[in-house]
Amino acid sequence: METIETLRSQLLGRIEQSDQPREILKADEIKKLYAEIPSLAPEERAVFGKRVNELKVELEKAVLQREADKEDAAVELIDITAPWDGNSALPALLPTEQGTRHPLTRELEHVVDIFTRMGFEAIESRQIDDDFHMFGALNFPENHPARDGYDTFRTEEGFIPPAHTSTMQNRILKDGKAKLEAGGQIAAISYGRVFRNEDVDATHEHTFYQCEGVFVSSDANLGQMLGTLRSFFETYYGQELKIKTQPGYFPFVEPGLEFAIEKPAALGGKPGEWLEMLGCGMIHPNVLKAAGIDPNKYKGFAWGGGVERLVMLKYGIEDLRHFESGKLQFLRKFA
Ligand code: PHE
Repeated sequence: METIETLRSQLLGRIEQSDQPREILKADEIKKLYAEIPSLAPEERAVFGKRVNELKVELEKAVLQREADKEDAAVELIDITAPWDGNSALPALLPTEQGTRHPLTRELEHVVDIFTRMGFEAIESRQIDDDFHMFGALNFPENHPARDGYDTFRTEEGFIPPAHTSTMQNRILKDGKAKLEAGGQIAAISYGRVFRNEDVDATHEHTFYQCEGVFVSSDANLGQMLGTLRSFFETYYGQELKIKTQPGYFPFVEPGLEFAIEKPAALGGKPGEWLEMLGCGMIHPNVLKAAGIDPNKYKGFAWGGGVERLVMLKYGIEDLRHFESGKLQFLRKFA
């Protein structure tokens, strides 16, 4: 096969390397054609000359095209569908390190795992919901100021990206009703992303994760709830912890509590340094009623709190914004 180089010099001569439009200086074959012109009849010369010029332009175009094709072909193509032979260098385009799960995903799985082993069913929370599940089913009266505490986003259509995982309570209760009536109990957690219209700073994000627990039986009580929570936190941090509660207001629980742990010395805590971890309480009778459960027959408790806060304490992370930043430097620490 002729190389482009030989074809070019045979047909067109050498093409000068310059920024100027390429010009044909010397062309063997073409030159031969031009050389024939004087031997032609005078009336044929103009037509012949014109045809040779046209041919020259066409050939030049063809050669330039071939050159461009050759440049394209020079880019080494990687067949990403071919299995790696195990010997050759890995193509530089492939990542040279393994990806890992996001630290929040990993910690959330740990949280879910602990509760699952305690006998809780785990349900991922919805990321788009409605006013009924966000407020109505949770005993927030219409126009009640408590609604403002949740800085809730709302779509133009009136849907709500949930501001807490409590939006799942009504569904969990309705789904579990049959179990209760068969003499059993409801034990479920819901976990997932929640959204609040917050000004973002080191301890506030518009998007974060929560984990919620719901337990209902004929005789559920606060003692069981505190035992469950203590057990969870001690398992998660792998050590004994001091806990305390103080009153807290949430329309969907009565009484409502805030649950705190003493910051463990191993994690840099001083005695008496309390950290509020979540909200909790006995499920309000109206919340049970909204799910068709008779509050005279059944009692329940619920809790809910942020996942980031748990993780930040465990790893001494100062700024909540790292989690959603996508910063590889931060993420690699958890690889
Ligand atoms: N949903 C509440 C919050 O996000 C926490 C909570 C859950 C409180 C369940 C009580 C019971 O602030």
